[in-house]
Amino acid sequence: MTEPNRIEREFGVAFPGQIVDQSKWTQTALKAMPDGLLNWHELFGRDAPVVLDLGCGNGRSLIGSAITRPDHDHLGIDILPVVIRYARKRGNQRGLSNIKFAVLGGRELLEKNVAPHSVAEIHCYHPQPYYDPAKVHLRLITPTFLASVHRALKPGGLLVVQTDNPGYWKYIREVVPVFFDFHERIGRWPDSPKGRTRREIIALKKKLPVFRGHGTAKLELSEEEAIRLAEAMPPPTFDADRRLRDLDRLA
Ligand SMILES: C[S@@+](CC[C@H](N)C(=O)[O-])C[C@H]1O[C@@H](n2cnc3c(N)ncnc32)[C@H](O)[C@@H]1O
Repeated sequence: MTEPNRIEREFGVAFPGQIVDQSKWTQTALKAMPDGLLNWHELFGRDAPVVLDLGCGNGRSLIGSAITRPDHDHLGIDILPVVIRYARKRGNQRGLSNIKFAVLGGRELLEKNVAPHSVAEIHCYHPQPYYDPAKVHLRLITPTFLASVHRALKPGGLLVVQTDNPGYWKYIREVVPVFFDFHERIGRWPDSPKGRTRREIIALKKKLPVFRGHGTAKLELSEEEAIRLAEAMPPPTFDADRRLRDLDRLA
């Protein structure tokens, strides 16, 4: 009998982990989101730092984190059911018990389902820039969203954000430092020099610049003050440059 191909590749880059024997597959679907707050202990059956990936796409980065950090629990969400199907399948086939995936919007998750100060890390890789002016209001990273990220994180919790869109990055660099002690990362992630995510791999292959940053939630900023600041800040109405749209078809 031939051995099944246990290593998968995307654009020639190995997807983290290997497909394990079917007897060890797990169930990573979070199908029913509660009306109220998620109980992390009930969801994962233990108490461990929780990592969120908002707009996780096919889950490449989060699955990599779940494999290399078995002592952390992970939840990836995306509004597109098809990408979450891929993410769940790969999570299941790798036998992971510290990761779940759900179809849901990032704002909705933070506003309705995440208890204040309950999460260790929030990652947001290549949020959709939305080139069509009629869809600009759908852009995920807004001041109000950042206030929700700040509230969801434990004091000093980590935000990681990344894009290949220069307009989005310029905006991110203006607004994120209001809520986070923010640092631009120069150079590729040492853990994934070919790209943490599918979109990053595509951007790097196209020789586009990739902008990466991380920051810790400002300790002195109260929830009320964060909301007040967010209300006074500009919405993300930057020009996303429609010439970059072609990349989306590949992604
Ligand atoms: C450019 S893709 C990036 C996917 C992945 N993070 C990566 O880097 O490969 C943007 C993703 O964000 C998702 N998305 C768009 N708006 C969202 C929202 N409000 N909440 C969650 N996901 C969203 C899209 O469905 C898409 O999968």
